[in-house]
Amino acid sequence: MKYAIVGTGARHSMFRTAVTETHAQGNELVALCDVNSKRLALSAGKVKNQKGNGVATYHAAEFDRMIAEQRPDTVIVTTPDYLHDKYIVEALRAGCNVMTEKPMTINVEKLKAILDAQRETGKSVAVTFNYRYTPARTQLKDILMAGTIGEITAIDFRWYLDRVHGADYFRRWHRYKDKSGGLLVHKSTHHFDLLNWWTASFPVHVAANGKRDFYTPEMAIKLGLAGHGERCHECPVADRCDFRMDLEENDKLRELYLDAEDEDGYIRDKCVFAPDITIEDTMQVQVAYANGISCNYTLCAYSPWEGLEIKFHGTKGELTHRHVEVHGVFGGDRQRPVEDGITTELHLAGKAPEKLEVWEGSGDHGGADPIMLGYLFDPQGVEPDRYNRSSDQVAGAWSILTGIAANQAIATGERIHVGEMLKTAGIDLGVDFG
Ligand SMILES: NC(=O)c1ccc[n+]([C@@H]2O[C@H](COP(=O)([O-])OP(=O)(O)OC[C@H]3O[C@@H](n4cnc5c(N)ncnc54)[C@H](O)[C@@H]3O)[C@@H](O)[C@H]2O)c1
Repeated sequence: MKYAIVGTGARHSMFRTAVTETHAQGNELVALCDVNSKRLALSAGKVKNQKGNGVATYHAAEFDRMIAEQRPDTVIVTTPDYLHDKYIVEALRAGCNVMTEKPMTINVEKLKAILDAQRETGKSVAVTFNYRYTPARTQLKDILMAGTIGEITAIDFRWYLDRVHGADYFRRWHRYKDKSGGLLVHKSTHHFDLLNWWTASFPVHVAANGKRDFYTPEMAIKLGLAGHGERCHECPVADRCDFRMDLEENDKLRELYLDAEDEDGYIRDKCVFAPDITIEDTMQVQVAYANGISCNYTLCAYSPWEGLEIKFHGTKGELTHRHVEVHGVFGGDRQRPVEDGITTELHLAGKAPEKLEVWEGSGDHGGADPIMLGYLFDPQGVEPDRYNRSSDQVAGAWSILTGIAANQAIATGERIHVGEMLKTAGIDLGVDFG
């Protein structure tokens, strides 16, 4: 299979390595495409096992020419979120299949364009939801599929981003709602996808509150950071700021962003307390699912630790899962949990709570990425997936609809009916909202 990658920033290297190294058998990287020629050259220089003159590179304006000349079977989309639709639609209409990073896109207009193009071309869209493949999360699916806790009735789900990872969404394109959809789309697409997959259902009603309480100009003053610069590089108060990102110090960040910024003005280390940020850092959402399950969801982007807590309430008992990914942030330093980072407990009514042995894996995102890459790039070499973890454009759509509806709920103060929202946008996902 021949692949081209569009968007050669931080994330694309996972796909590049999979195609050219770990799953090189039967796969070939034919081209890379980006607006920034320095990032393009950096990526091309790292491609291993390339025949001839190396991998072809194209400026974003030459995307059509790239497809015409290189004829990739699949285009992998790893650009910022607000550009996914453009490349997904263009690739489909040029006769290619698509693999896209999450979120598939950020609003219903862009979603409609993707769904129309997929339907009219019959080509495939795969959304790379790596979180489904984290062994500990697959284990929850296994327990729920077996009906161990009976019918699921309600879910409490909380996701905490710490002051290192969480802060990073407030530095660059993610921090603008029109570029990322806000964290309820950009980040929560993973979490709402997990919920759709775990419950085998889809959202019908969504209510939400969202605000920005921490990454604000007022907070900079409270933290003694008055007089801060627009970015960390050369910021007058950087030496006393726990949120400083030092692009010079980290080779990867320097070559990917600092050394390339003169070309496109992409500033990687903007101040997290800037006044022009338009996304929330504190969000709470209530979702009612088509099969009757209700869910309370919280996302906080400035927690002192990082991880998640989820409790499934069922007619026979409870299933509780807690994952401490980062134990704490002290100053700017993170401390990883030494042991027992993940716990899963089954508590059936009338019985003592039971700590389960948690399924484990190794590799990025709790062991998820290597498993997912096997399914994506070596489908013949893996077992048929009894957990149905691969995601197409429909799963991609459902995963963003909760967040898009939540954004609308925050903006209007109303409870949003997802079916009505889809109808207004002219989208039919083939389900009955009752
Ligand atoms: N699944 C995960 O766990 C995970 C993790 C990280 C990122 N992501 C996703 O991967 C995507 C990329 O994120 P990233 O962190 O690599 O971002 P990034 O900003 O580091 O990289 C984006 C790249 O796209 C390029 N680009 C910008 N405009 C373009 C255009 N018009 N045409 C072509 N290329 C253009 C930029 O120059 C840059 O090289 C995002 O959608 C993000 O949500 C997913």
